[in-house]
Amino acid sequence: MNQNNYVIVGGSHGIGLALVNRLVATGAAVTVISRTSDHLTGLTGVTHVQADVMQDEIRSEYLPDSINGLAYCPGSINLLPIRGLKPEVMIADFQLNAVGAVKCLQASLPAMKAAEASSMVMFSTVAVSQGLPMHASVAAAKGAVEGLTRSLAAELAPGIRVNCVAPSLTDTPLAQRLLSSDQKRAAMAERHPLKRIGDADDIAAIAEFLMTDPSGWITGQVIGVDGGMSTLRI
Ligand SMILES: NC(=O)c1ccc[n+]([C@@H]2O[C@H](COP(=O)([O-])OP(=O)(O)OC[C@H]3O[C@@H](n4cnc5c(N)ncnc54)[C@H](OP(=O)(O)O)[C@@H]3O)[C@@H](O)[C@H]2O)c1
Repeated sequence: MNQNNYVIVGGSHGIGLALVNRLVATGAAVTVISRTSDHLTGLTGVTHVQADVMQDEIRSEYLPDSINGLAYCPGSINLLPIRGLKPEVMIADFQLNAVGAVKCLQASLPAMKAAEASSMVMFSTVAVSQGLPMHASVAAAKGAVEGLTRSLAAELAPGIRVNCVAPSLTDTPLAQRLLSSDQKRAAMAERHPLKRIGDADDIAAIAEFLMTDPSGWITGQVIGVDGGMSTLRI
């Protein structure tokens, strides 16, 4: 029986929910922080804490006394031409992607330090390493997440590891506007060297690895899970 405790911020759908399903399958206890919980009904080992990371204080007393892994999944895909990009949108993207992660880490830190070993995973995007048009706001916010990953990994070593997964387009509720027709899906798949878009479990599998002991000698890394988008030209 796995006695470990994990906290998944944004585990109610998409990549976070796939990660929750993987962790509960090992027998771990999982606390999910999100605004909704419909897809968590009936999942054994899951405790839901309702909170909006943009508005609510994330309080340590909602969380387990010992945390072996923390994943921060909330994110945005606001694709806007630069002439229409408002400061409010950029600030909201920064708050959701970067400040929210810091808030959740701060609330979790005492319990992460109480665990024998602990690991945090955040999510960037392929749009940080690849220049993609209209991605200015999300690329800037996720660039901050990559900087946070390395800085926090240095500050929190050796007890707590911090890593980041940088996906390309993945079939989740967040990406539905980009995948709203068969033609769009086929065009997006074609852009990737591996000729398909990601599914939530492609990304959750790496996040689970980074949150658990088999990755015990990995910290401060940004790992592309992107069908070859960030590295190949074929
Ligand atoms: N999908 C992609 O194509 C793609 C590509 C590159 C990077 N990523 C990154 O991968 C990560 C996961 O993406 P995803 O596609 O799984 O996203 P998603 O389908 O939108 O899921 C996001 C999760 O975060 C929660 N959440 C969102 N805003 C929140 C808030 N203000 N307070 C509390 N919880 C909040 C949502 O739950 P509630 O709605 O219940 O609150 C949900 O559980 C994100 O950081 C995203 O930027 C995704």
